[in-house]
Amino acid sequence: METRDNGLLTVGAGLSRPYGKLEGRRMKIAVGSDHAGFELKENVKKFLKENGYEYHDFGAETFDPQDDYPEYARKVGEAVASGEYDRGIVVCGTGMGISIAANKVPGIRAAVCHTTDMARISRAHNDSNVLALGGRLLAKELASDIVSAWLETPFSEEARHVRRIQKIKEIERAKGRRA
Ligand code: RB5
Repeated sequence: METRDNGLLTVGAGLSRPYGKLEGRRMKIAVGSDHAGFELKENVKKFLKENGYEYHDFGAETFDPQDDYPEYARKVGEAVASGEYDRGIVVCGTGMGISIAANKVPGIRAAVCHTTDMARISRAHNDSNVLALGGRLLAKELASDIVSAWLETPFSEEARHVRRIQKIKEIERAKGRRA
């Protein structure tokens, strides 16, 4: 495992547990995409299968150019927020629309990551629980590297990051009280 310091994170640190495993069991991943992410989602599923992850595809089940990304963002977001799935991976054309929608589900911290460093940092600093990818922007090989980095990087548990995530949760609680 490569270890280097990019100024934000010692990349490669802490990746010692068995690949695809969480607390001794297979990690469960919820995946979803609209039409623009459909092809890349199929590749993500192949990567997950080959690397020992358990996953469920929350749709789209078939390529439909008229479908809408919020539907799949919501299904994946709710599956992760409920605790039924450990993490989620969502794909639309850019990763942006589907991440915006997923972030409306309380408890979801969805991050658009188009580099492996973004993926690692979103885990180590933000404890992101949904990864959003752009199917129209990413080569399949890079997307697999991003998925791998994101799945295998633990949250740092550093006090300042824990504190910031608590503040995000406070925003959610305040919004809940107003609703
Ligand atoms: C669908 O054409 C496209 O707009 C959508 O996949 C996504 O890129 C939106 O953010």
